[in-house]
Amino acid sequence: MTEKKNVRRVLVLTGGGDAPGLNAVLRAFVRHAHDLGLEVLGSEDGFAGLVEPEPRIRTLRPEDVRGILQRGGSVLGCSNRANPFDYPVGPKGHETYEDRSALVVERLRERDVDALVLIGGDGTMHMGKRFEALGIPVVGIPKTIDNDLGATDYTFGLDTAVSTATWAIDALHTTAEAHDRVMILELMGRHAGWIALSAGIAGGADAILIPEIPYDVERVAEKIRARTAAGTHFSIIVIGEGAHPKDGTISTLTEGRAGHLPRLGGAGHRLAELLDGQVDHEIRVTVLGHVQRGGSPSSFDRLLGTRFGVKAAELCAEGRTGRLVVLRGTVIRSVPLEEALASPHLVDPDGQLVRAARAVGIELGG
Ligand code: F6P
Repeated sequence: MTEKKNVRRVLVLTGGGDAPGLNAVLRAFVRHAHDLGLEVLGSEDGFAGLVEPEPRIRTLRPEDVRGILQRGGSVLGCSNRANPFDYPVGPKGHETYEDRSALVVERLRERDVDALVLIGGDGTMHMGKRFEALGIPVVGIPKTIDNDLGATDYTFGLDTAVSTATWAIDALHTTAEAHDRVMILELMGRHAGWIALSAGIAGGADAILIPEIPYDVERVAEKIRARTAAGTHFSIIVIGEGAHPKDGTISTLTEGRAGHLPRLGGAGHRLAELLDGQVDHEIRVTVLGHVQRGGSPSSFDRLLGTRFGVKAAELCAEGRTGRLVVLRGTVIRSVPLEEALASPHLVDPDGQLVRAARAVGIELGG
């Protein structure tokens, strides 16, 4: 059972990479927390504001979060390098790593902070669990365009990323058709195929390759050849950055280390190499990249972010810490933090979304 704490002052931060809707969460959280009698502080650039030699912590009042609902990014700033348990120190490329978690605890205690409110993905929630073990109560709010956090059906950010990616597929269609080309679009999502699968279906892709279904390149080539035989001389293939051939591994740009994920990239170009020679078309690769994380959040993400922020303020005011706010079906609830970390939220290869894609003739590669 969740232990009730007396919470009067909280510190909020936006951990990891940004996602559209972060400002909607901050705005809702600060406004409602204020109404519930809580004081809110914010750390700039995620944990960086708490671990750097000069702390960067500011008070957040309702007037500080005015006019930000429609803005992308985070007014507090983000950092996905500032892991306080493994903090990089020294010049780029020659870093050493230090555990600065005790400094974070000291700074929170000095400021009479009763609870940490972490808006982040699984990496940030793992840090939250570790701070709980150090005696700092935590409330979590799930954020990531990848939608890969367990316990919640949706994270905010996914919907905007899918809309942006769908727009890109629409744009690729016209040029693909004009040149009779095969267009490959590589999308984000790490080990989860939610963005690729959702945008691929919404954009009418001919093949969608996701990490959860290792692909057979011959099936993709056959799909393209069948379209040509039927008189359609172009094809659109959407590939998630974590997708890989049946007998291959994930394409990465950098190596990771504990608490610091590797950068993924290259899946689209590898697919182009594998397809080259198997089909007669010219092949072009587009890597959509961080465009998927930018721009103004969709109304869905503003709404979900607002609902998450409100619920998190209520949990704090009720002293119900050690919990993560989640969306289950259409209802906002909260679950113990560890539930979010138990297993990632991945696309079910036999689930409804995959079956819908197959039903409309999309090749899934496996
Ligand atoms: O986790 C969100 C995400 O956008 C992934 O989809 C992507 O692989 C990664 O972050 C990119 O991270 P960075 O901003 O460090 O390049």
